[in-house]
Amino acid sequence: MILRLFAALCLTLFAHAAPAQETVAWKTGREAQAIERRIESLLKRMTLEEKVGQLHLSGRGEGFNASRIREGRMGGVMNFVVPQEVADVQKAVRESRLKIPLIIGLDAVHGFSTYFPLPLGQASTWNPELIEEAAYWTGREAGAAGINWTFAPMVDVSRDPRWGRVLEGAGEDAYLGSVVAEARTRGYQRGGVATTVKHFVGYGAGEAGRDYNSTWIPTSQLFDLYLPPFKASFDAGSMTAMAAFNALNGVPTTAHRDLLTGLLRQKWGFKGFVVSDFGSITELRLHGIAKDDAEAARKALLAGIDMDMMGDVYDKHLAGEVKAGRVPMKALDEAVRRVLRVKFHLGLFERPDVDPAAAPALMQTQEAREVARRAAREGAILLKNANETLPIAPSVKRLAVIGAMAVPEAERVWTDPAGLGRRAIQSLPDALKERIGAGAELVYEPAFTKNCGTEFSDKDAAVRAAAASDLVIAMLGEDCEFMGEGASRTKLGLPGVQQELLEALVATGKPVVLVLATGRPLVLTWADEHVAAIVQTFHGGTEGRAAVAEILTGQANPSGRTPMSFPRSVGQIPVYYDHLPTGRPQKIRQRYESIYMDEKNEPLYPFGFGLSYSRFAYANPRVDRTRMATNGIAEVTVDVTNTGARDGQEVVQLYIRQPVASRSRPVRELKGFSKITLKAGETRSVRFRLEARKLGYHDDAGRYVVEPGRVEIYLGGSSLADAKTALELVKP
Ligand code: NOJ
Repeated sequence: MILRLFAALCLTLFAHAAPAQETVAWKTGREAQAIERRIESLLKRMTLEEKVGQLHLSGRGEGFNASRIREGRMGGVMNFVVPQEVADVQKAVRESRLKIPLIIGLDAVHGFSTYFPLPLGQASTWNPELIEEAAYWTGREAGAAGINWTFAPMVDVSRDPRWGRVLEGAGEDAYLGSVVAEARTRGYQRGGVATTVKHFVGYGAGEAGRDYNSTWIPTSQLFDLYLPPFKASFDAGSMTAMAAFNALNGVPTTAHRDLLTGLLRQKWGFKGFVVSDFGSITELRLHGIAKDDAEAARKALLAGIDMDMMGDVYDKHLAGEVKAGRVPMKALDEAVRRVLRVKFHLGLFERPDVDPAAAPALMQTQEAREVARRAAREGAILLKNANETLPIAPSVKRLAVIGAMAVPEAERVWTDPAGLGRRAIQSLPDALKERIGAGAELVYEPAFTKNCGTEFSDKDAAVRAAAASDLVIAMLGEDCEFMGEGASRTKLGLPGVQQELLEALVATGKPVVLVLATGRPLVLTWADEHVAAIVQTFHGGTEGRAAVAEILTGQANPSGRTPMSFPRSVGQIPVYYDHLPTGRPQKIRQRYESIYMDEKNEPLYPFGFGLSYSRFAYANPRVDRTRMATNGIAEVTVDVTNTGARDGQEVVQLYIRQPVASRSRPVRELKGFSKITLKAGETRSVRFRLEARKLGYHDDAGRYVVEPGRVEIYLGGSSLADAKTALELVKP
């Protein structure tokens, strides 16, 4: 009895210590109706200036003026990460006439205090539950610091690793991208912050991989490739969206009425608000579609941009445009309504202000770090493992760890909070030492002055250490200025002098394991030929290096799979798995086939690829019917066996192809995957539900078509899957 009382007391104490979990989601039914009434009554009480204020998003830093909050002339703030500063702006709201809470936004892109792998690295896990958890903990931590809105997930599909922002997305595929978009949206909002699905739309298709550049996307491709992850995020309840910087087919998306109003609101029924990207309204002048900021403001608002991020353009010009009759009050009201709707559905009017004293204890909790470790572990991709170099054999007595990247320096892209967490990020040498035992010796040499290897600190010492070792672990890659926004590259080799070092290490004759931390697939052709093993990570975050150590030592069995094809050379870009066939396919590699004279067609590592310390065999691919109506459902099954000596995880992938249709269809299209764990020797039948309605495509008018005809089905561990079955799609 006493024990039970004690347990109950502990539970109560614990419940009080943990903050109430605030899942945010669109409310429905009566609650939603009540909200609409509250919005209308509030709107009636608002002055023109207060209405415009709701559409004004301003940011921490120079020029920020909290008195504008007191005047009711600011609807949102961004980049506030210090809880006390958040509390201060929230206090300013209470001193305003209508006390409309601020929406408080931040790029909590892959963590807040606990850093998870970059989104591309999370996508590499092919584990939606895990990805959702990472977003959930990001939301929880950001929420504890007073943030209620994240500028994520970025769901831009991209086939161009020259673009520095591929790291923020889920790679090249619409299906994987949609699954990840849904998981991330759900996770963040379950964690208490509203999501901003971005960048609507086509930002990942910038010509020549150059950031902010124009995009030209045919309608069928827009609907089949670029829009599905957005739709998935909205279906999962995303409350806001961000327009993109780019012009799509000649119209800047920030002023694209057909997209922002026609498609998003009228066709998809989106009820939330759309925020511009940073200053993108005033950029309409530079795009050449507005002569001044007033016209830019008018065009953006009338197209469907509700909130102006950091442009001050609505703040300065919208009231004047309304007074001059160029912007109808009705249009302004509608934008305000959308902003207020999100604030009400988010529960901001009822939410207590942030508690700065409570925030630190909620950062980098054990649970969050465990999720970060799992995500880093499952996101690491084993690209090569010649002669079973990995896991590190007991015969290795001297290990050389080379490269400044092995020790954390600035482990963040867009997570720059107030240092509320402990930030104890273990280095790779330390994490390895813990695991290799006393029998082996480890030497660490940074070789470079900083992580991204732009200049040597001591190359010779690194080469000497390698030459004296049994095995070299070189941790190299991109960091600092080499990845992220505004970091497009035309050369995709290792930055700086890293290639020079890698070649010197290989020249020692010792086996070299290359561990990469990058923001994009690099061109690894030389490395693939010369090093013994390659482990690819997309910056694993707080637990990244510890997770790499688990993999190198065999404590964990790698299970990451590529979310993008790795090109053999920059000249192949775009290279992606779901391309169309040509009339001159590559057969015997002779002239007048669709080939390169100087390079293979295939990527170095295909989409969906990744090795394991286990091996997996596929048998008996089968489908439960030979004919399926175009509105039917079939069950596809394949037997997967772990033929290796270790337990391991496999990502079982299902691709389809429709070889004959009214228009050329991709040679492969991912339509399902399942990450499973198999014990050594174990066989499992893996089942997929194949819905005919998901096997179609959009035509040039944007109409969706599911065409009768033969559908080939491929099952396997990558986009080269070769266990094959088929069915016939027939009219119902
Ligand atoms: C510009 C980026 O394009 C966008 O994704 C981000 O959310 C904003 N800056 C705010 O940092």
